Amino acid sequence: MNHVYSWREAPKAQFAVIGDPVDHSLSPQMHNAAYAALGLPFEYVAIQVPPGEVSQALDHLRELEYRGTNVTVPHKEEALSWCKHVDGFCEQVQAVNTIDVRRRAGVNTDANGFLATLGDMTPSSVLLMGAGGSAKSIARALVRDGWTVRIWNRTHEKAVDLARLAGAAVTDEADPTGAALILNTTSASLQGDDLPVLWERTVKDAIAYDLAYGDSPFLKVAAEHGLRTMNGLPMLVEQGALALEWWTGESAPRAVMAKALEKGPEKPTGTKEQG
Ligand code: ATR
Repeated sequence: MNHVYSWREAPKAQFAVIGDPVDHSLSPQMHNAAYAALGLPFEYVAIQVPPGEVSQALDHLRELEYRGTNVTVPHKEEALSWCKHVDGFCEQVQAVNTIDVRRRAGVNTDANGFLATLGDMTPSSVLLMGAGGSAKSIARALVRDGWTVRIWNRTHEKAVDLARLAGAAVTDEADPTGAALILNTTSASLQGDDLPVLWERTVKDAIAYDLAYGDSPFLKVAAEHGLRTMNGLPMLVEQGALALEWWTGESAPRAVMAKALEKGPEKPTGTKEQG
């Protein structure tokens, strides 16, 4: 667990992750390892900010001369409205996860971080599970990159809404027929829940990908059906690396950052925290 500061008691530092809760965030250990490896005299801390106080907190961090913050749940939208400069993608998904505090500029490295983890996979068909905040940015980014996206969600109406927004299709059965990627963006793993995927219909060489990075019932069942699996740790590294590069102009030491995460989450079940 991180040492967590309340925003009014934020220490002198250069970078932070703000969230509520934020004690479980792996970002401090990852970024501090990166700065040490780069020989940069920066410190990255975890700061607790209650909902409704994000603007005040960011103003305060700006006065303390922080350079950057990551933003995790549930603050990605409130943080967007504090920013004076954001790109079109942040506007579309109504979320920023990375802020240049001095310039009041925001970007969203979640979606590009996710896409980077797909490596050289050719865009084809994806079954995307979930219709929450993470699904929103990733569905948009996948469609933008030429993927055919089919959305399943426990609450069907939310899948319909997201599909309309993102230019995707909706499905009322989690049917992976034809999908090269079966992507779990839901919080089901955090509750130890499985998802009703019709696994016997998966195509050969399909990849099951869970954005959570602890134990995942979804990935366990996928592996039992012979699928290749990926968890959320590579995405956590990528979104952090992109944030660091945007803040500092340095090339992020991804291997060091991944190594800093090796001891893994301290909670027994998966967590799903980008930024
Ligand atoms: P995030 O910002 O992390 O995406 P969120 O916006 O709260 O989180 O969205 C959570 C997603 O996980 C939703 O799609 C939610 O489904 P509902 O729309 O039906 O609530 C999904 N989810 C959460 N718990 C789940 C469970 N036990 N089984 C299936 N889906 C679940």
